[in-house]
Formats: sequence, C-alpha cells, structure tokens
Amino acid sequence: MYVQLLKMIGFTLLMLFSLTPNFAESANILYIIPFPSMSHYIYLRSIGLELAKRGHNVTVITTHLEQNPLPNYHQVQVVKSNFWELIGGEKPNVFDMADISAEEFHKKIHWPGSIGLINVVLSSPEVKEFLKKDNTFDLVICEQFFLEALHALSAKYNAPLAIISTFGNCMKHNFATGNPLQLATVTAEYLDVHNPTSFWGRLRNFYFTVYDYFWWKYWYLGKQEELVKKYFPELGDNTPSLYELQRDAALMLINSHFSYDTPSALLPNIVEIGGVHLTSNNASLPEDLQKLLDDSKDGVVFVSFGSNVRSSELPKQKKDAFLNVFRGLKQTVLWKWEEDNLEGKPDNLVIRKWLPQKDILAHPNIKVFIGHGGLIGLQETIFNGVPVVGIPIYGDQYNNLLLIEEAGAGKLLKYHKINEETLYKTLNDILNDDSYMKSAKDMQRRWKDRPMSPMDTAMFWLEYVIRNKGAEYMKNPARNMSWFAYTMVDVYAFILVIFITVIGSFVKLLITVKKYLSKPQKKVSTKKKRA
Ligand SMILES: *[C@@H]1O[C@H](CO)[C@@H](O)[C@H](O)[C@H]1NC(C)=O
Ligand SMILES: *[C@@H]1O[C@H](CO)[C@@H](O)[C@H](O)[C@H]1NC(C)=O
Repeated sequence: MYVQLLKMIGFTLLMLFSLTPNFAESANILYIIPFPSMSHYIYLRSIGLELAKRGHNVTVITTHLEQNPLPNYHQVQVVKSNFWELIGGEKPNVFDMADISAEEFHKKIHWPGSIGLINVVLSSPEVKEFLKKDNTFDLVICEQFFLEALHALSAKYNAPLAIISTFGNCMKHNFATGNPLQLATVTAEYLDVHNPTSFWGRLRNFYFTVYDYFWWKYWYLGKQEELVKKYFPELGDNTPSLYELQRDAALMLINSHFSYDTPSALLPNIVEIGGVHLTSNNASLPEDLQKLLDDSKDGVVFVSFGSNVRSSELPKQKKDAFLNVFRGLKQTVLWKWEEDNLEGKPDNLVIRKWLPQKDILAHPNIKVFIGHGGLIGLQETIFNGVPVVGIPIYGDQYNNLLLIEEAGAGKLLKYHKINEETLYKTLNDILNDDSYMKSAKDMQRRWKDRPMSPMDTAMFWLEYVIRNKGAEYMKNPARNMSWFAYTMVDVYAFILVIFITVIGSFVKLLITVKKYLSKPQKKVSTKKKRA
C-alpha cells in the first residue's frame, strides 16, 4: 500500500517535472496593437488570441474588439479614429497615391499619422484608466509600425519588449540592433525599387535607407520622445530612450518567410513568422457564396483591393477597361465593390460590399486574384496557391508583387498602364497558361514546408523570452559598440595605414637603393669594361 502510494506520488511528480520545461507558466502579457487598419489587425489578433488560448493573461490595447474572447483576454479599447483626419485631411482617392515617392509618403502620411494616432491612443479614456492601475507584466509586445512612443510601456512596467511587424525586414531595427543591412539584396521595407540588384536599384535603396534612418533617428524619434514626456511624466530622465528600447528589444517577430521573401541573415532574436494569421481550418463560406463558387464551372476571377483602397474610386476610364475585359470572359468575376450599383455591369460579374477574402481564396474554383499586393492579403494567395494580377498602389506593394512575378506566380500591372488592352493581355495570359497556377502551387508548398507552423514558432519565441527574462545573452554585442568599431572602420583604417607605410617605405627604399646604385654603377661598369 505504502510503497504503491509513494510510487504514485513519484510518478505524478515526474509527470509534472517532465511537463514544466515546455511551459512558460501562465504569464502576464501586455499586447499593444492599436493601429486602426483592418489588415494589420487581421494579422496581429491571431497572436493575442493564441496567447490567451495557451493560458496567458493577455491585456490588449486595441482599436478593434473581439466579440467573445476568453476570460483571460482583457481588451482596453482605443477610441476609433479616422486616420486621414489625424493627418489633417480628407481621405484622398487612394489610387492617386500611386504617384507618391517613398520619401513623401513618410513625410506626409506615416510620420504625422503616427503622432496623431499616439495622441489618440494615450488619451483614450479606457487606456488612461488602465495606465493608472498598478499592473505588472512579464512581457510587453508592441507592433512596430510607427508606434515607437508606445514601446515606452516596456520601460514603465520594467518588462522585456518584443516587437512585431506586419511587414518583413525592417531597416531601422537592423541599424539599431546591429543586424546586417544587406543593402545589395534586401530592399527597404516601403521602397518601390524596380530592379533591386542593378546599380541604380542599389543606389536608390542606399539613398532611401540613409534618408529614412537619419530622419527617423534625429527628427521623428524626438517627436516620439516628446509624446512619452507628455503622457508618461512619471518615467523621468533615467529611462532608456526610444532608440535604446528598440535596440535592446528581446525579440523581433517579422512577417516574412524565405520561401517567398528575399533570404537574408537574421540575428537569433529576429524570427520569421510570415503568415502567422493563416490556418488550414477553413471557415465555411456563406451559403450563397459557396453556391456561386461551386456552380462556376469555368472558374472564378476574384477582385479585391483590400480594406483601405476602394475600388469604386477608380476613374471611369480604368473602370470601363475592367468591365469590358470582364465582359469577354467565360469565368465568373467576383469583385469587392463598395457601392450598391455598378453601371454597365456584365452578367458574369458579381459585386459585394464585403467578401471573406481568406475563405474565398481557399475555394478550388478560384483561378486568379486581382489585387494591390498588400502583404497580408498577398500571403493569403500564397497560402492557397492562387496566381495574382497585382496592381501596386503604395508602400511595400510593388516589392511584394515583384517577388510574386519573379516566382512566376503572377504578373505586375502598373496602375498607370491599365487599359483594356493591357488588362486583357495580363489576365488572359494567366488564365490560359498553366505555368502560373503551377508556380503558385509550388510556392504554396514551399511556404508551408517548415519545421514548425508560424504560430507555434511565434509562441515558442515569445514564451522563450519570458522564460529567460528577456534572454539578454541572445542579443548582438554590436549594440553596445561604437559604429566605427562595429563596422570595423578602425581596423580597416589601421591596416590601410600599415599598408601605406610599408609600401611608402618600400618605395623610399627603392629610390635610395637606386640612388646608391646609380653612383657606383659607373665604377662597376667601368670595371667590367676594363675586365
Ligand atoms: C490579468 O491582467 C489584468 C489586467 O488587464 C489584471 O487586472 C489581472 O489581475 C490579471 N490577472 C492575473 C491572474 O494576473
Ligand atoms: C475545408 O476543409 C475540408 C477538410 O479540412 C475540405 O474537405 C473542404 O474541401 C475545405 N473547403 C474548402 C472551401 O476549401
């Protein structure tokens, strides 16, 4: 009896101990994702919900609310804001942005938008109420996208910081943490370079990267620091600067994967979790859509320009080009169109104000997707192996689509080049040539071929930095070196000086020897002649 009881206790203890290393027990996590864009939220919500599912006590600062979250998922709501009002203007016709340079886009949209948004977040009543409370956190996770002032919450709670980006490589973070920039192959995240590895492509990338870095570090971060002073006066002067917080972040999770994005060197605490929002358990489609897709035996062309771009703002000429090309197709066309009516709509075109993009793309009858190449949506086409006709408008869209085109899984059509002829040719090339579908399926297979799902990867590393209290040892020692030591400029300069000295001495020696030889030379030669 007694022995058996001991055995049982021993077994239970063994079970407990063998299990514990796999868990970073339930942790208190602050998750800061207030950026109002729906596509960012679609990506980021998956991580917060999964952390709660795994038993962590998650507090989320967010603009969008979940309807029925777990009881350990606490939402602190940010007042809904209109991004365009934040930068002091009406919502522009987004198609006009196809003309804006990356520099202008930062100066006119990203930077003022960020300052406006952070003011909205930190003066939202729920957020103010939450910040007054005496909470403690084991980890602060913050989105990277122009939200630096909010990184200061990791200093406020004295907790390690993990940063999550909804895009891939981040040049400013690379600079700060000492991750190689790889300017010859890796393009800055919001730059549209048409031929990235050409001389002009590399020059353009170099120029923009330097421009962005200096404005960011010496102007923009200053504005962000002012916001920190305004909203967190209790932090005082001893807290790390926002630059230091980014530099010392425990973890950076980036939305890329080398099977699609340009392969690049990454520090151990920069981890690719591209497509973390995508899972195979397909939600069922609304009945009418399911029937429409099932019945379209010749296939379906699916058109959507995402949540920020309204197709109905297309100028008439371009809209007519689309309608005329669609009219000639035997396929059904499904278009996310934000108005009730569409004049001149052909019979094979179905319009809806809202469409469940992810679930539609999973349907086997989808033959091609037409969209702007926003990364979150584009990853849904990769995940489902659907070829793309991409019409880039702004930000990283051009680069994203260039990668698709290079992989043979689609074609890029510049906005200004759209007319009936170009659209007809591009679309029919893809519909009639199987190679696009084949390449899209290849890409889909490679995208999913990983040792761990992107979600498991994200969870592992977030729990890893909690378990290891910020994993200080994982950070690059380059963070604390001067730029000339890190770039080896001092060593190269030293070698250059030695080299010049040696060559100089050698030349001097030669001259001396020559001089010395040229005098006695006559004697020698006369001796020789005599002999
Ligand atoms: C979970 O987080 C909330 C803050 O949002 C806090 O009030 C609560 O005490 C935490 N629960 C536990 C068990 O730590
Ligand atoms: C959804 O998944 C099930 C099995 O997981 C599959 O049989 C079905 O075809 C899928 N539906 C769609 C629309 O892809």
